[in-house]
Amino acid sequence: MCGIVGYAGPRPTVRPSDPAGGEALAVVLEGLRRLEYRGYDSAGVAVVAEADGHDGPGGGAHALHVTKRAGRLARLVEALEAEPVPDAAAAIGHTRWATHGGPTDANAHPHTSADGRLAVIHNGIIENYAALKAELLEQGVPFTSQTDTEVVAHLLGRAVAAGADLTTAMREVCRDLEGAFTLLAVHVDAPGTVVGARRNSPLVVGLGDGANYLGSDVAAFIGRTRDALELGQDQVVTITATSVEVTGFDGAPVTPRAFTVDWDAAAAEKGGYQWYMDKEIHEQPKAVADTLLGRTDASGALVLDELRMDTAVLRRTDKIIVIACGTAAYAGHVAKYAIEHWCRIPVEVELAHEFRYRDPVLTERTLVVAISQSGETMDVVMAIRHAREQGAKVLAICNTQGATIPRESDAALYTHAGPEVAVASTKAFLAQITACYLLGLYLAQLRGNMFADEVRTVLGQLHGMPDAVQTVLDRSEEVRKLAHELADSKSVLFLGRHVGFPVALEGALKLKELAYLHAEGFAAGELKHGPIALVEEGQPVFVIVPSPDSRDSLHAKVVSNAQEVRARGARTIVIAEDGDDAVLGSADLVVRVPRVPTLMAPLVTVVPLQVFAMEVASAKGLDVDQPRNLAKSVTVE
Ligand code: G6P
Repeated sequence: MCGIVGYAGPRPTVRPSDPAGGEALAVVLEGLRRLEYRGYDSAGVAVVAEADGHDGPGGGAHALHVTKRAGRLARLVEALEAEPVPDAAAAIGHTRWATHGGPTDANAHPHTSADGRLAVIHNGIIENYAALKAELLEQGVPFTSQTDTEVVAHLLGRAVAAGADLTTAMREVCRDLEGAFTLLAVHVDAPGTVVGARRNSPLVVGLGDGANYLGSDVAAFIGRTRDALELGQDQVVTITATSVEVTGFDGAPVTPRAFTVDWDAAAAEKGGYQWYMDKEIHEQPKAVADTLLGRTDASGALVLDELRMDTAVLRRTDKIIVIACGTAAYAGHVAKYAIEHWCRIPVEVELAHEFRYRDPVLTERTLVVAISQSGETMDVVMAIRHAREQGAKVLAICNTQGATIPRESDAALYTHAGPEVAVASTKAFLAQITACYLLGLYLAQLRGNMFADEVRTVLGQLHGMPDAVQTVLDRSEEVRKLAHELADSKSVLFLGRHVGFPVALEGALKLKELAYLHAEGFAAGELKHGPIALVEEGQPVFVIVPSPDSRDSLHAKVVSNAQEVRARGARTIVIAEDGDDAVLGSADLVVRVPRVPTLMAPLVTVVPLQVFAMEVASAKGLDVDQPRNLAKSVTVE
């Protein structure tokens, strides 16, 4: 939530009076465009430029220019076109997901100090802001917004006015702040410099040639550089065009870990699709294939070297707890069926925000698996900390290098889905299931629960999934049509059993997120215990039917469930594998998916549900990529 960009580059060669906005603004706006998925309630920029008329070496007097607008980034761009800011050697930009104070111009970031010489942007929540604000008000400091952030602007401005340089001021102020924050600040006395700080919120550094960058994630500067640094907890970074210095809040120097981003700017573009989501849905075969890449040795055995977790820990694990939120939690829910089946280890799946409040039973033999696309979901971060404090080992499954969650875990297994920009998660879900399956197979191999040939067989099935997913995509026209027919529905229900149950939950979540429609997913067996009362004439119900080859009478039971709702007037849309004719009598429409092994089915059955939700939203004229009230990366609890 909230996207943050910072830039420090060469002193502009054009005279400051040229109303170009120049490189600094271009970098920041490009970064904000790529980060807009993090929040889109308002956007703003600040630059520190030479004041008109000064052109001496090092520049003369400088002035701060701040432009900010409520609403989407496009409104900020219009404002900047109408009233350009001068080119500058330093700039910061922010796109907001409102927490404290509604989405107004006044509450938009950047916020400025009382003397108007400093601007600051913030992601997170300053938990002790009320007390700090009361003190400042008592001292006569005027406030112009309802945000928690403005206190930081005043505190920093005051520290610099008292003689501290901007970096020292940042360290001092951060030590007094509580809560979660990434902060970036610029000051007229430090032209060409951006100072950043982070605690419990994300910030990464981009290393350019003659310019350096800061961003909430690497997407902020991926168009400029792929070389990056991870910042740790409670650290302050100062960038200029040619230098990057990192210290702790206590002033001690720090050497951050460097990494290279393994995707490029083109991967973060729409590539001809109307929506990022459509593009990302179509990237799913590749997301699965890339997540499987390089995971076997010459003998065909599974190797997960990147885990870097002591195999003794994995061997002695007697319980797995998956923690995640939203779509990632449903991926975990799917994985539970596979891991318990393959490894005979009990697996619990817990929403991360509920985890630490229920006093979970954790021992050093518990393996906590934290799943997160962004790697920044604060609920997951807090759950990880709790688990580690209690002595459990934490393994992160994450799609984002340099993110907090893998950094704070004992080990990490990366999904290689590439950048996911649309707020509603799609390709990350498939990649997360794939990575969880790899983990399950690896544990089974290590602990001797499966023979080598059994592991190879399942790996072979996984390798077949990109083609199967592609087949579903190639057949998606029918679902697109159906979405237009059902766009005016008041409510849509989803039924599934076994691995089809989390798929039903995910189908419903997608529809809520994107189309603002009442949607619910149920375990089909639970239907008769209550939800069937919801069914009335014409009620659309998606039924995810397992393969006839699946366990016991599961298939027959789900087909019966479809009949039960249909008998009560429901319009049933049945997702069933090719050749399964037993569903014909209970379906108003059959959506066919290729025949795949039972545990692989979620990778294909979820795809029509994603396409359906996207098309319903599109038919309703909604913004598919940026649904109302949501943000892709939820960095507050
Ligand atoms: C938000 C997003 C969801 C996502 C969830 C978990 O709620 O809107 O799409 O599934 O966060 O995100 P993560 O980055 O941890 O996977």
